[in-house]
Amino acid sequence: MKKIKVDLKENAYDVLIRTGLVNTIESEVRKRNLPEKFFVIVDKNVKKNYPKLLRQIDADTKNTYTLNAYEKNKSYDTLQAIHKKMIGANLSRNSTILAIGGGITGDVGGFAASTYMRGIKYIQVPTTLLAAVDSSVGGKTGINFNETKNIIGSFYQPDLVLIDTNFFNTLPKEEILCGIGELVKYAFITSTKFSRWLIKNIDNIFALDERSVVKAIAESVRYKGDVVISDEKESGLRKVLNFGHTFAHAIEVEQDHKIKHGQAVVVGIACALYLSHRTHLIPEAKLNKFLKIIEPFKELIAIRTYDKNKLYSIMGRDKKNVSGKIKFVLIKDIGEIVLDYEASKKDVLYSLDKGLSLFAG
Ligand SMILES: NC(=O)c1ccc[n+]([C@@H]2O[C@H](COP(=O)([O-])OP(=O)(O)OC[C@H]3O[C@@H](n4cnc5c(N)ncnc54)[C@H](O)[C@@H]3O)[C@@H](O)[C@H]2O)c1
Repeated sequence: MKKIKVDLKENAYDVLIRTGLVNTIESEVRKRNLPEKFFVIVDKNVKKNYPKLLRQIDADTKNTYTLNAYEKNKSYDTLQAIHKKMIGANLSRNSTILAIGGGITGDVGGFAASTYMRGIKYIQVPTTLLAAVDSSVGGKTGINFNETKNIIGSFYQPDLVLIDTNFFNTLPKEEILCGIGELVKYAFITSTKFSRWLIKNIDNIFALDERSVVKAIAESVRYKGDVVISDEKESGLRKVLNFGHTFAHAIEVEQDHKIKHGQAVVVGIACALYLSHRTHLIPEAKLNKFLKIIEPFKELIAIRTYDKNKLYSIMGRDKKNVSGKIKFVLIKDIGEIVLDYEASKKDVLYSLDKGLSLFAG
C-alpha cells in the first residue's frame, strides 16, 4: 500500500492507495480514532455497482444520501437535501461522513461536512480517476451557483483519503479520459521527468494498467499535497493547480455542462498554451511541442459551437480574479508556471478561438 501524508499540522491526514482498500475501511477508521458511526454520501452509479460495499459499512436508507452526479446537482438544493437527511438521522459531531464517488460527490459531500454543526469529520473515497488524482486531496469543497463553478465553498480538509483502484474498473471510458485530462495538467506543472513518463504511459493508464495508474495517482497526490502544505488557502503557489482552469470552468458553463470537467481542462490547457505564446512567454516551437501533448485528445473531445464573448464574460466572474481583472495561470516551461497574468481581452479572445478550434470535430 502507498501512504502519502498531507502534513497540514493539526489538519494532517493520510492518503492511502491500494487495490481492494475499501474492504478495510472500518479498521483504517479505527486506527485513526475517527467516529465509527457513518453517514454516507454516495454516487448513484457507485451505489448500483458496489452494493456489497454499502452493506459492509451498514449504509441504510436512513444514514445514506444518494447523489445523482451531474454538475447541475452540485447545488444548494442538493446541499439542503443532504443536511435535512443528516438531521433526520440525528447525526452528531460524533459521526464521520463518507463521501464515496467522483469529484462532484466529494466536493458537495465535503462542503456538507464542513457546514454541518460547524464542521464534522469526513473521509474522501474517490471512485473516479479524476477524483483520485486531484479533487479528493487538498480540501477544496463547494457547489456551483448563479452559473459560476464552485463559487460557494470552503477550504475543509478530509480526515482520510482512501483510494481503491478497483473502482476504476466500472468507469466508462469517457470518465477515464477525464482523469487523464487532469493528469495532463500535472504533466505541465510538475517536472520534465513526470511529464515524459506520463506521455509514455498514457495508453497504459487508459487501459488501467495497475502499476501505471498507481504511479500516476501517487505522483500527482504527492505534488498536490506539497503545494497545499505550502499554501493551503491559495494565496500564492496553490494557484499553479488552476493551470487551464480559468478557461475550463467558463467552457463548462458556456457549454451548459455538456462537456465534462476533465475534458474542459484539456481544452482550457490548449487555450492557456496559446495565450502563453501570444503573450511571448513561449516561442512557437515550444507551443507546438506542448500542443503535441494534448494531440491524442483531439479525436475524443468535440466543441462545435461556442460564444467567445459569453465565455469572456463568464471568466470575469471567476473567483480567482482580483479588482475586476481576469487573472490567468500561464506557462514558460514545464514546471515553470506564471501566476496572476493579466492578459488583454483581445489576446484572450484570440486564444479562445485558437484553443477551441483544435476541438471543432
Ligand atoms: N475540489 C477540487 O480540488 C477539485 C479538483 C478537480 C475537480 N473538481 C470537481 O470535480 C468534478 C468532476 O469530478 P469527476 O470527473 O469525478 O465527475 P463526477 O463526480 O461527475 O463522476 C463522473 C461520472 O462517473 C460516475 N461514477 C463515479 N464513480 C464511478 C465508478 N466507480 N463506476 C462507474 N461510474 C462511476 C458518476 O456517477 C458520474 O456519472 C467537477 O465538479 C470539478 O469541478 C474539484
